[in-house]
Amino acid sequence: MYINFWYPVARSDEVTNEAPKRTRIMSLDFVAFRDTDGHAHVLSDTCIHRGGALGNGKIKKDCVECPYHGWQFNGDGRCTVIPSLGKEEMPPARAKVDSYPTQEKYGIVFAFLGDLPEEERPPLYEIPEFEDEAWRANELVVFEVDYYYERSVENGLDPAHNEFVHPKQGTPGMMQDFRNKPIDVADIGDYGSKFMMPFAQAHEEQGLMADKIQRDASQLQGGSGHFGPNALITWLLLGNGNDFHQYFYEAPIDENRTRIFFVNMRHFMLDPKHDKSITDVNMEIAQEDIDLLVVLNPVRTPETTTKELLVPADKPVVRYREYLKDWEKRGWRIDLKKLREIRGDVAVAIPCPARRQEKNWILDAVPLVGREFKI
Ligand code: FES
Ligand SMILES: [Fe+2]
Repeated sequence: MYINFWYPVARSDEVTNEAPKRTRIMSLDFVAFRDTDGHAHVLSDTCIHRGGALGNGKIKKDCVECPYHGWQFNGDGRCTVIPSLGKEEMPPARAKVDSYPTQEKYGIVFAFLGDLPEEERPPLYEIPEFEDEAWRANELVVFEVDYYYERSVENGLDPAHNEFVHPKQGTPGMMQDFRNKPIDVADIGDYGSKFMMPFAQAHEEQGLMADKIQRDASQLQGGSGHFGPNALITWLLLGNGNDFHQYFYEAPIDENRTRIFFVNMRHFMLDPKHDKSITDVNMEIAQEDIDLLVVLNPVRTPETTTKELLVPADKPVVRYREYLKDWEKRGWRIDLKKLREIRGDVAVAIPCPARRQEKNWILDAVPLVGREFKI
């Protein structure tokens, strides 16, 4: 798991100024709430007084109030009220929690979980056709799965599994010409990579949406890409302009569980009356993957590729792992072993951008591989 990327925190409608929304991402807890101007805020959930869970508290004006002794924290993470000090006394400067930059898109509140200054941050992967009238976005689907998010992303980057795992897609197989050849993987900006290739349909009449649209099997193409560690995009071109684009924004909940925010774009059957059947078929296909991924061994991606036997069709996965290594070298990788060791004894937080400017933080930063974080 890596800091310094955009993570989906909650659906926009779950983030209100009536009650805080508490959620777990990368094994740490966060609280999201909205101020009276409608702006969404995401803070570290742990109260720096004596460890209360802010997300179980209340919203008071534009602050979240800890349920334990009523300390209030504003959207910047500053404590503005300490009731036991009385009205005259200002909270000390150290009374602050980490506050993360947010943006809202596609019905999702995203937070930048990391400390990079704005000009150095990897961007959020955007959906270029989202507002395009020639496309229809399905209602956002949020679902949780019992496997590690990197396993999910790697599965999405794998062209060789479809013919074995996806009868609901009509078992699209790699063309003979593409077998045993390195896949042409192209970078997406500085933080992602993708591939596209033609696919062969074993039984055209069983293909995805075969009963509803005029497909052209000779034009069938598919591909996928990742951006950052946790955004996965799948492009399915069924022929005759019948295109599907699928976006998975993934939030690792912890080392074993993942929450996926799924936006499906389609370039055909634009009438909203088709939304449900398309969501249903998408989730049936997702279930084919889920059944397989919940039993992968080991649970998390191996640290070294010597404990797997990789073949040319795994090239997109290898490119993804090269990126992960690069981000590890930059000091962005959470040290899960250390985090496991200290859990229960020490509360930590993902460092927010303000830690670059201010000192005096109560909580330690989450342990990072190869990086000592001074507080
Ligand atoms: S623990 Fe939050 S106010 Fe005391
Ligand atoms: Fe799949």
